[in-house]
Amino acid sequence: MSSSLRQWFARVLVLTQLINGALCWGKEGHYTVCKIAESYFEEETVAAVKKLLPKSADGDLASVCSWPDEIKHHWQWRWTSPLHYVDTPDYRCNYEYCRDCHDTHKNQDRCVTGAIFNYTMQLMSASENSDTIVHYNLTEALMFLSHFIGDIHQPLHVGFLGDEGGNTITVRWYRRKTNLHHVSVCYRMLKEKVIFPDWINYSYDLPMMKVWDNMIIESALKTYYNKSLPLMIEALQANLTNDWSNDVPLWESCQLNQTACPNPYASESINLACKYAYRNATPGTTLGDDYFLSRLPIVEKRLAQGGIRLAATLNRIFSSKPKHAGS
Ligand SMILES: *[C@@H]1O[C@H](CO)[C@@H](O)[C@H](O)[C@H]1NC(C)=O
Ligand SMILES: *[C@@H]1O[C@H](CO)[C@@H](O)[C@H](O)[C@H]1NC(C)=O
Ligand SMILES: *[C@@H]1O[C@H](CO)[C@@H](O)[C@H](O)[C@H]1NC(C)=O
Ligand SMILES: *[C@@H]1O[C@H](CO)[C@@H](O)[C@H](O)[C@H]1NC(C)=O
Ligand SMILES: *[C@@H]1O[C@H](CO)[C@@H](O)[C@H](O)[C@H]1NC(C)=O
Ligand SMILES: *[C@@H]1O[C@H](CO)[C@@H](O)[C@H](O)[C@H]1NC(C)=O
Ligand SMILES: [Zn+2]
Repeated sequence: MSSSLRQWFARVLVLTQLINGALCWGKEGHYTVCKIAESYFEEETVAAVKKLLPKSADGDLASVCSWPDEIKHHWQWRWTSPLHYVDTPDYRCNYEYCRDCHDTHKNQDRCVTGAIFNYTMQLMSASENSDTIVHYNLTEALMFLSHFIGDIHQPLHVGFLGDEGGNTITVRWYRRKTNLHHVSVCYRMLKEKVIFPDWINYSYDLPMMKVWDNMIIESALKTYYNKSLPLMIEALQANLTNDWSNDVPLWESCQLNQTACPNPYASESINLACKYAYRNATPGTTLGDDYFLSRLPIVEKRLAQGGIRLAATLNRIFSSKPKHAGS
């Protein structure tokens, strides 16, 4: 094999591993949302959640909050894929349940907001009539609901139909050479050792959806949190008791005393998608510090809101208090 050919193979190998490595961060956002939620659970919620969690969770909801992403590619779970997002008409920057909540075959309610209503209803029916036979797998219902409340807070999960929520927009995510060793965090997790050559700038193509699912969080961990997710979660929790404390009751509340209210969350997300995700990110753009630094506060706030609202929803579901105290 000629040396240039060998070099080419080496490049392809490193790039492939790099991209796979980058994507292994998908769990971090969901873990964060669920971890924040746990600290806002009422006593009854703690007990109910503990009872429903699978053994593999070891008592920690956050550890199974990515489960719906892990299974969605298996054929028997393929029907769940449309439940992770909702597409809205291009450039309208708004969301309407009846218009938008369907899958590509126009089956109504098959989208992330419909799924949140669905799994809330399943958990409610069991919580209200504990003596009737339950036809649903409530362990799955809890894991789906916890995951989808996270998903709906990621702006591009309520993106445009035309680009599949940023999935078909390819951008370049820039990584300075000096940051290279940080990339290996993910590989250590995979127990892989990768040697990084210095002849390449680590800017590579990826769908914009992945920038918002993974890369902004990953870069934040490297830049501000010493690669430690617990440190980032701590920072968000500190903000919740300081800067954001006045907003928390508003984030928790549901109109008309509903148990779950995903529709306003979806409207917020498409708004943020238009204002921040799509802006200055046309296909082929290299997204660097400008983009990262201005979008990170949005991502952090959405993770915190997702956590607060997941806790509020589960507290309403599992609370034994009368649902309409006023009546
Ligand atoms: C509701 O949940 C059930 C059980 O997982 C599932 O079969 C059904 O497709 C779900 N529907 C929606 C709209 O999420
Ligand atoms: C409920 O779902 C979980 C996760 O899919 C599964 O492990 C468990 O066996 C199911 N329980 C029942 C009673 O089917
Ligand atoms: C890497 O980036 C630097 C500065 O952005 C540039 O000067 C250099 O030519 C790039 N190297 C390669 C191999 O693209
Ligand atoms: C960053 O994390 C490493 C362990 O991963 C630790 O040894 C180091 O002290 C930490 N640095 C700071 C500033 O906390
Ligand atoms: C919502 O609940 C509160 C008390 O929990 C009650 O005072 C109020 O009237 C209710 N609002 C609606 C629209 O049901
Ligand atoms: C905390 O809140 C302030 C004010 O909203 C914001 O600027 C900052 O980015 C937040 N920090 C974190 C870690 O979210
Ligand atoms: Zn998802």
